Amino acid sequence: MRTIFWEDDAVRLVDQTKLPDRFEILTCRTVEELGEAIRTLAVRGAPALEAAGGYGVALATFEREFENGEELKMHVKERAEYLASTRPTAVNLFVGIERVVKRALEGRNVDEIRKFALNEAQKIADEDVERNMKMGQIGADLFENGDSILTICNTGSLATVYWGTALGVIRSAVRNGVELKVFACETRPLNQGSRLTAWELMRDGIDVTLIADSMAGIVMQRGMVNKVIVGADRIVRDAVFNKIGTYTLSVLAKEHGIPFYVAAPKTTFDWNSKASDVVVEERNREELVYCHTKCRKTLIAPENVRVYNPAFDSTPLENVTAIITEHGIIYPPYSKNVPEILNLS
Ligand code: MRU
Repeated sequence: MRTIFWEDDAVRLVDQTKLPDRFEILTCRTVEELGEAIRTLAVRGAPALEAAGGYGVALATFEREFENGEELKMHVKERAEYLASTRPTAVNLFVGIERVVKRALEGRNVDEIRKFALNEAQKIADEDVERNMKMGQIGADLFENGDSILTICNTGSLATVYWGTALGVIRSAVRNGVELKVFACETRPLNQGSRLTAWELMRDGIDVTLIADSMAGIVMQRGMVNKVIVGADRIVRDAVFNKIGTYTLSVLAKEHGIPFYVAAPKTTFDWNSKASDVVVEERNREELVYCHTKCRKTLIAPENVRVYNPAFDSTPLENVTAIITEHGIIYPPYSKNVPEILNLS
């Protein structure tokens, strides 16, 4: 099943704030509702956000009646700006929005704008599934029987339209018959690793062990993992932006001589930017001060303590052994090989 899809003039998505307790589909009939779903991480993960951005623009065209194409185009541009303001770090969100806006603006009347926008959004979702399957197959060759792999956050079906990026590679390897184990970092403060990755892997029957983020060092020191694979929210000329804690894993992996792989589609590359250009999202202090699942309002820190809560960090490219994409595995030197393999200017 897809994590996000279009049905009856609405965007529907697996509500990831409810997992693993409940599996629920959230229906968004307005751009505002979808924006809220993005902000609260009901839908999350860079490639899923690309689809959400695209579907969000399509949704804008159906939100109400319009006198003519020009009025609708104004509405599309305004709603696109709102959608782009929901989360700053994953470049895919902007890629999805911009692609559908561009196509929508080619329409000559209300019906055509709606049709163009929805078709383009559907294409983004379909392409995501296709490229994840490709990336999975390409990356699977890096794994062999007996591997024990450390990962962080959730990079599976839930973070994409279907299959996943880093977790998709693991899935493809298992489907090819490779026997491996996964260690999933819980990924504080929102626990995408324990709530979502552990849930996805267990559903697939893949051997998974949950650890707290602070245990990454000991599992490497004791030889309990021999490879690390993570996803990405944005890859710039000098760094990979991904879930907070990724940088720490890369430093530990380097120290222990463990390969550190990143899996991401071409749309996650923002090759004209550098690390200092990227806005790292800082989230609400409540995520650290309160227990944030069922017992949302239980204090787990002094109520007025000062909090720093960045959602992402940047891993220097020199810590990355290889980047797995749907176009092939890219090895250093990245300055030469990324533009060449991805055909970027
Ligand atoms: O804050 P989130 O849950 O949206 O962060 C997601 C991640 O950091 C993922 O690792 C990244 O988007 C790659 S997903 C395929």
